[in-house]
Amino acid sequence: MAKIFSGVQPTSIPTLGNYLGAMHNFVTLQEGNDCIYCIVDEHAITVPQDPKEIQKNIRNLAALYLAMGIDPKKSILFIQSEVPCHAQLGWIMQCTSYMGELERMTQFKDKSKGKKAIPAGLLTYPPLMAADILLYQTELVPVGADQKQHMELTRDLAERFNNKYDDVFTIPEPYIPPVGARIMSLQEPTKKMSKSDTNRKATIFTLDPEKDIIKKIKSAITDDEAVVRYDRDAKPGISNLLDIFSLCSGRSVDALVAAYQGKGYGEFKTDVAEAVVGTLKPIQERYAQLIESSELDRILDEGAERAYAIAKETLRKTEKALGI
Ligand code: ADP
Ligand code: NA
Repeated sequence: MAKIFSGVQPTSIPTLGNYLGAMHNFVTLQEGNDCIYCIVDEHAITVPQDPKEIQKNIRNLAALYLAMGIDPKKSILFIQSEVPCHAQLGWIMQCTSYMGELERMTQFKDKSKGKKAIPAGLLTYPPLMAADILLYQTELVPVGADQKQHMELTRDLAERFNNKYDDVFTIPEPYIPPVGARIMSLQEPTKKMSKSDTNRKATIFTLDPEKDIIKKIKSAITDDEAVVRYDRDAKPGISNLLDIFSLCSGRSVDALVAAYQGKGYGEFKTDVAEAVVGTLKPIQERYAQLIESSELDRILDEGAERAYAIAKETLRKTEKALGI
């Protein structure tokens, strides 16, 4: 039985990468653990967001969490900005961080590159993420591989605070899945599949209609060897499709490689697309029902209340340790 926390930003519809790398595990981990899942809207505003758009995305993400199988009887589901302790502990974590270590974060470097005016929130995103996790005395954080560095910082900040003041925080471990932790772009398979990719063919969104999913997978970049085998360096496109296929079908990569010996990429891609559609379609059907229901608001209100009850205890201990 572990205490688990994770979040997703409501910056657009979650991608197949978000689902296979993180959200799919959120569902599995519900059994036998105490899970808290968050819609991290305060992280989303580290870059400018259209108010109408983000409001819609928050609701869409809540419905998607439930459609994917998050059960409010088993887990807490809530919106970050509805529990003020996140911003409060976030400030304390900023005061625990050093500029140098924040400037070294690769996500900060990527997102601030080429910008004339860099929002300060881009730099202080990781201390807020640390606060999210530490508020719940979290033991395990299911995330994709891109969050490894932020997780290390979270552990450093928790240890630094505990050593300097009092043993307030549990030191959390990342849980990065062995397969799927890095689902890659379909068009440039050496970079991660991302919500914000300007090439719309590169990313599958979890609410994409069947015909778009098929089209995107059919036009995925591969190589001209015409052999289905797994090699992340030499064959990043095919290897990425194998990971996706494996996760969506429940068959191992080895079994798939054996099954597609002597077969062409066309047939392979058709079957990958079918597996992805088969995974996403039931989620999309449940989503369509949930998005219309007032049930959603009730679940989120209750989630915020339950999260607050836990978070306020940690914040109280933290402030007491600081003497404020
Ligand atoms: P994004 O990085 O898409 O903006 P978030 O920061 O909200 O989305 O990430 C939500 C979760 O999805 C995180 O745990 C992150 O590590 C994971 N994730 C994001 N992109 C991918 C990907 N391409 N492959 C695997 N996991 C991913
Ligand atoms: Na991310």
